[in-house]
Amino acid sequence: MARPKIALIGAGQIGGTLAHLAALKELGDVVLLDLNDGAAKGKALDIAEAGPSEGFDADMSGTSDYADIAGADVCIVTAGVARKPGMSRDDLLGINLKVMKAVGEGIKAHAPNAFVICITNPLDAMVWALQEFSGLPTEKVVGMAGVLDSARFRHFLAEEFNVSMKDVTAFVLGGHGDTMVPSVRYSTVGGIPLPDLVDMGWTTQDKLDAIVQRTRDGGAEIVGLLKTGSAFYAPATSAIEMAEAYLKDQKRVLPCAAYCDGQFGLDGFYVGVPTVIGAGGIERIVDIKMSKDEQAMFDKSVDAVKGLVAACKEIDPSLA
Ligand code: APR
Repeated sequence: MARPKIALIGAGQIGGTLAHLAALKELGDVVLLDLNDGAAKGKALDIAEAGPSEGFDADMSGTSDYADIAGADVCIVTAGVARKPGMSRDDLLGINLKVMKAVGEGIKAHAPNAFVICITNPLDAMVWALQEFSGLPTEKVVGMAGVLDSARFRHFLAEEFNVSMKDVTAFVLGGHGDTMVPSVRYSTVGGIPLPDLVDMGWTTQDKLDAIVQRTRDGGAEIVGLLKTGSAFYAPATSAIEMAEAYLKDQKRVLPCAAYCDGQFGLDGFYVGVPTVIGAGGIERIVDIKMSKDEQAMFDKSVDAVKGLVAACKEIDPSLA
C-alpha cells in the first residue's frame, strides 16, 4: 500500500518541526508548501538528509505550488504570521484571514478528501474560516489547540506533584486564548481528580490557581522568552498526535477546536471541546456536563470566539 501523503501548508518554525516529526515517526511522505519556495525545499532536503542516520523511509519535498499537494490524506496548516512580543493572537486576524482564503481554496482544489488540521492563530476563528473557504465537511476540518494547552497543563501539574506526566490527564476547554478553561474537575493524577488532591494536601488551591493561570498564559510565556517568534516544538508535537490518531484510526480522545452544532448549546461554531479522532476525522464530540463556574467561563470564552468570527465576517463579507 502506498504511504499516506501529508501536506504541510507553511514551512516555518512549526512546519519544519512537523515535517521532522512526521518523518521520524514514518507517518507518510511529506510535502512542505510555502510562499517561500526555498524554505520549503531547503527544509525538505535537510530532513531527507537526516534519513540515513535516523533510518526512516519517507519522501520529503518542498514546493510553492498547490498542485503538488494533490491527493493529500492529511493537511496541517501553519501558513500565516506568528505572534510577536506584545501582539495578541487576535491582532493576527486580518493578516491570517487572507492566508486562510488562499489555503482553503488550494485544499479545496487539490486535496478535498484530506483531514485538515489548522494551527494558524487566532485559532478558533481561523479554523472556522478555513472550513468555510475550503468547503470540506466539518468533521474533516479541525483546529489544534486543546492538545497543546492540555499538554502545558499536564507538564505544570507533573512538575508540581513530582510525578510522571504519563499519569497526569488533563484537558482544556474553550477558545485558544486568554479565556481558555483548564478543567480542574476533569483533570487527574492517576485517576484522582485535582480537587481531591488539594483536599489530600498534595498542593494548595492557590498553587493550583497559579498553574491554571500559567496554562492560560502558556503561549505568551514562550513568546516572551523567545522574543523572535512563538512556540513550535510542542505545537508541532500536538498536531502530529492528532494526525496520527486519524491516519491510524486510533479513536483517541483529544481536546480540539471542533465544529459544534448542537453540542455544548452551540450553533455552528468552532471551539475547544473533547473529541474522538479516528479514520472518520472528528467522530464524536464528548458533550460533558459542566459545573456552573465552568459553564460561565466557557460561555465567556465562546463569546470571545464569536467576536472574532464576527470580525472575520466584517473583513471578508463573502463569509457572512
Ligand atoms: N501561503 C503559504 N505560506 C505562507 C503564506 C501563504 N499565504 N503566508 C505566510 N506563509 C508562510 C511563511 O512564509 C512562513 O514560512 O507561513 C510560514 C509561517 O511560519 P513562521 O512565521 O515560522 O510561524 P510558525 O511559528 O510556524 O507559526 C505559524 O501557527 O501557532 C501559530 O501563531 C502561530 O499563526 C502562527 C502559525
